[in-house]
Amino acid sequence: MPQGLLIVFEGIDGTGKSTQARRLGDWFAEQGREVVLGREPTNGPWGRRLRESAERGRLPPDEELECFLNDRREHVSGTIAPALAAGKVVILDRYYFSSMAYQGSRGFDPGEIRRLNEAFAPVPDLLILLDIDTDTALSRIGVRDGSANEFEQRPALESCRRIFLSLRDDPFVRVIDASGPVERVARQVLDAVGHPG
Ligand code: TYD
Repeated sequence: MPQGLLIVFEGIDGTGKSTQARRLGDWFAEQGREVVLGREPTNGPWGRRLRESAERGRLPPDEELECFLNDRREHVSGTIAPALAAGKVVILDRYYFSSMAYQGSRGFDPGEIRRLNEAFAPVPDLLILLDIDTDTALSRIGVRDGSANEFEQRPALESCRRIFLSLRDDPFVRVIDASGPVERVARQVLDAVGHPG
């Protein structure tokens, strides 16, 4: 049985995480690997509540953090851990680094959020951080037509980006400039997968 592999895409909104996650999943499937694609917040009850809050108004900070933790606990125990144990490749569009960044930008200590998560959530083999500046992000997510949601406000995104970039010296983190065309970013992603250590 091949070894399970956990690969996570992170970055602020508008960086193209879901496109790259899907493409990487297709690539692994072509190599004959079994692939599980996941995203957080999930489509479970906690995740649905969080998505609603993105449209209607955010939950109080404590409650929001707790919701993300509960959503992730279910994701880890119900999907991520069993898939890894079965030797599959698990590719996630957001994981606990988003809690460090987004809930960190609401005043929690990112290091403390990390400790809370790593008590139950497996550390990824590879974290691909897709990076773009906040102006590019905001124009991609349609701030001009007013469709940016409650999580996607400029000062918060700037602080999220800073927290994400503070992870760059962790050995399992690769930062990729995601401002270019999808194909170029995809090549850099494959390169990162080929040289994870
Ligand atoms: P997102 O993946 O952008 O959902 P969608 O693709 O449906 O728009 O996630 C919604 C928001 O949730 C996003 O702005 C980031 C935020 N988020 C957190 O604040 N903390 C977390 O731990 C996670 C996973 C996401």
